[in-house]
Amino acid sequence: MRKVPVNYLEPGMRLARPVLGTGGEVYLAAGVTLSGKYIQRLEKIGFSSVHVEDRLLDGVFVQDVISDKTRRDAIMQVRKSLTEWSRPGTKALNVPQDITLVADAIVGELLNNPFSSVNLVDIRTEGAYLFHHSVNVCVLAVLAGINHGLQREQLINLGVGALLHDAGKVRIPAEILNRPGPLTAEEFDRVKLHCAYGRDILGGNPTASVIAYAHHERYNGEGYPLGLKGRDINYLAQMVGIADIYDALTSDRCYRKAHAPHDALELIAGSGNWWFDTRLVHNFVRCVAAYPTGTLVVLSTGEVGVVVDTPQAYPFFPNVRILLNAQRRKVLPYTLSTVQENLWVSRVPDDEEVQTIRQTLGETF
Ligand SMILES: [Fe+2]
Repeated sequence: MRKVPVNYLEPGMRLARPVLGTGGEVYLAAGVTLSGKYIQRLEKIGFSSVHVEDRLLDGVFVQDVISDKTRRDAIMQVRKSLTEWSRPGTKALNVPQDITLVADAIVGELLNNPFSSVNLVDIRTEGAYLFHHSVNVCVLAVLAGINHGLQREQLINLGVGALLHDAGKVRIPAEILNRPGPLTAEEFDRVKLHCAYGRDILGGNPTASVIAYAHHERYNGEGYPLGLKGRDINYLAQMVGIADIYDALTSDRCYRKAHAPHDALELIAGSGNWWFDTRLVHNFVRCVAAYPTGTLVVLSTGEVGVVVDTPQAYPFFPNVRILLNAQRRKVLPYTLSTVQENLWVSRVPDDEEVQTIRQTLGETF
């Protein structure tokens, strides 16, 4: 399986993961062979990329860290709650039972999943960004929480807070939130209010309320709304803040293209005791794969291969199936561990180079 930008799709490719619509419903199922018509529809609706099956990755199984059903349920529940709260003056006296149940399901699956490193599955449409993003933030924050040694009950509280961290955005006009291009100072001040709105909406749940209020605070005091510093910032809110930045950076937004996962992770890794507490940054970084499975990479030796897996605690050192030697000639594929061989990823080829590499390999897709 590999992620392919929609404009690089070709008829005949088979979907490796379902394409989910705005509310988490299955728009196209896994296993569907793409026709020209399907590709046009995907482009028209605004999907930026989808996951397709890939012969280069035969025998490599990429699984989401939570089940499709749990992800779908979570997206639907977040949408339902946020839609309800978008009516003026609405307050959630208690977090809905359904949200607690999906947070519990996510925590349960993550605690039982012997994954190596997370390959964040990114399938969403532009309009549905907030709901999909909230679920990704929840998964990432809970994983960091597990690394941090939190107990199950605390993990569920963290999960609920993460799912609802941006609840206050329902009070910000959509034309400001979805505006391509930079906001004016006044508009940005308005966006910043989502923290206080979230705190008020979630007032009945102390943890979720604190997370919604403080997830944009930064360790160096340059965050908002209060400009709190260091350990004064609730650590669960910091965990959500880290996950929020990572997922936002790796997503296509209406105003910019997504950053590559390794660039985003490098940025986070360097933010210790600057944006967030170093220990929390460390616990986050060690569970996320810098080069998701299926990424074509050029190694320090000049060889070209495809990432098959990433050992936990070594996010930047994947196991790679070598396909081309340093002279760019095809070799009999074999897998090596960059940790054990003392190698590193020197770069990730751009879309154009990926096409050239695939042609050399005789693989159109
Ligand atoms: Fe936010």
